[in-house]
Amino acid sequence: MKDRNVLIFGGAGFIGSNWAERLLATSAAKVHLFDDLSRRGVRHNLEWLQRSADPQRLQVTVGDVRDPNAVARAVRNASEIYHLAAQTAVTRSLDDPRHDFDVNLGGTLNVLEAVREAGHRPFLLFTSTNKVYGEMGNRPLVVTRERYRYADGGGVSETQPLDFHSPYGCSKGGAEQYVHDYARSYGIPTVILRMSCVAGPRQFGNEDQGWVAHFLYSAMAGVPVTIYGDGRQVRDVLYVGDLLNAFEAIVEKRGLTEGQIYNVGGGAENTTSLLELVGQIENMTGRRLRYATQPMRPGDQVIYVTDHARLTRETRWHPETSLRETLDAVLDWWTRHRSLLPQAALPQTRVAAKETGFSIPLQELPRTA
Ligand SMILES: NC(=O)c1ccc[n+]([C@@H]2O[C@H](COP(=O)([O-])OP(=O)(O)OC[C@H]3O[C@@H](n4cnc5c(N)ncnc54)[C@H](O)[C@@H]3O)[C@@H](O)[C@H]2O)c1
Repeated sequence: MKDRNVLIFGGAGFIGSNWAERLLATSAAKVHLFDDLSRRGVRHNLEWLQRSADPQRLQVTVGDVRDPNAVARAVRNASEIYHLAAQTAVTRSLDDPRHDFDVNLGGTLNVLEAVREAGHRPFLLFTSTNKVYGEMGNRPLVVTRERYRYADGGGVSETQPLDFHSPYGCSKGGAEQYVHDYARSYGIPTVILRMSCVAGPRQFGNEDQGWVAHFLYSAMAGVPVTIYGDGRQVRDVLYVGDLLNAFEAIVEKRGLTEGQIYNVGGGAENTTSLLELVGQIENMTGRRLRYATQPMRPGDQVIYVTDHARLTRETRWHPETSLRETLDAVLDWWTRHRSLLPQAALPQTRVAAKETGFSIPLQELPRTA
C-alpha cells in the first residue's frame, strides 16, 4: 500500500502501541499516535516506541478526543484511522457516567465529524466491545464446579440482539452505532470490531480493566485480588498479536469488510473461568494467588465467548495463540519490565496516587496537534 498515513487514537495504550509497533516494523506506513496519556503507565509505551522508531515515521500528539479541533487537525492527513481511545472501565463508567459519555460517545462523534469534514474518506476502524450484548438472558446456561457454559455450546455471533448494559456499554454501543451509520449516511469506509478480552505485552491491567494481566501481575507481586461473583464467570481471551492480524486481514479485504461489524475474540478454544485462571497462574508461576470474593458487579456478564465465524469466513483470520502462550507472553513482558514499572505490578487500588518513575516527562513529549 502506497503512502499509508495511519492515525491511532489511543495509540499509547495497550492495543494502540502494539499496533504502532507492528506497523513500524512490518510496513512503510507513517504512524501518528494521538493520546491524552490518561491511562496510568501508557507513557512507557510511548518511550518504548520512540526508542526504536525512525522519527520521520512516528508522530505523537498528546491530545484529547473531546477536543474537536485537535481531532480535526490530526485527521487531516490520515489515510487510515484506528479509533481506540476510550474510557475503558465499566466500573469508572458507573462512578462517572458523564465522563464516560463525553470520551466514548462525544469523542467518537468528534472523530466521525472530522472524517466527514476532511472529505478524503479515510478508512476508520472502531474498537467496540462485547458489552453491547448485555446479559444475554436468552442463552440458557449450565453450571459446573469451576465454570459456566452455554447449554447449546458455541459462542456469541453478531446476530445476538443488542442490549447495552452499564454506562460503558451504552457509550461504546452508541458510538459504534454512530460509526456504523456514518458508513451508510456519508459513505465513510468503517469497520467495527466487537472485542472480548484481549491480553498481551504492554497492558497496564488493573482491577478495573485488563483482568488477565491484573491476576498475573498480582500473583507475581504477592498481592491478593478480589473476585466479584462466584469466580465461575467465563471469558474467551485473544492474544493482542492475533488481534493485530485481524486488523491486517480486515484492511487487506477492505472490499468485503467496509461497512461491516464483526465479533472478534479468542473463541471457544481459548476460554477460561476466573477460578480456572487462578489455578493456571499458580501452576505456571509456582506462586499462590490469594483472592477474596465480593458480589458480582453491575454490567458483568456471567459468560461471554466469541463466535468469530463471520470474520473467519470473510477474511480467513483465526486466533493462532493459545491461552497458555498468551499468559507466557504477559509474564515475559512483566519479568523484563518489572524494574522499570514497579507500579504496574500492583492493582490500581494499591498504587500511590502520585505517579512516579516515568522516564518521559510529559513536557518532553512532542506536541504536534
Ligand atoms: N483490551 C481489551 O480487552 C478490550 C476489549 C474490548 C474493547 N476494547 C477497546 O479497545 C480500545 C483499546 O483498549 P486498550 O486495552 O488498548 O486500552 P488502553 O486503556 O490501554 O488504551 C486506551 C488509550 O486511550 C487513551 N485515552 C483515554 N481517554 C482519552 C481521551 N479522552 N483522549 C485521548 N486519548 C484517551 C488512554 O490514555 C489509553 O492510552 C478501547 O476503545 C477499548 O474500549 C479493549
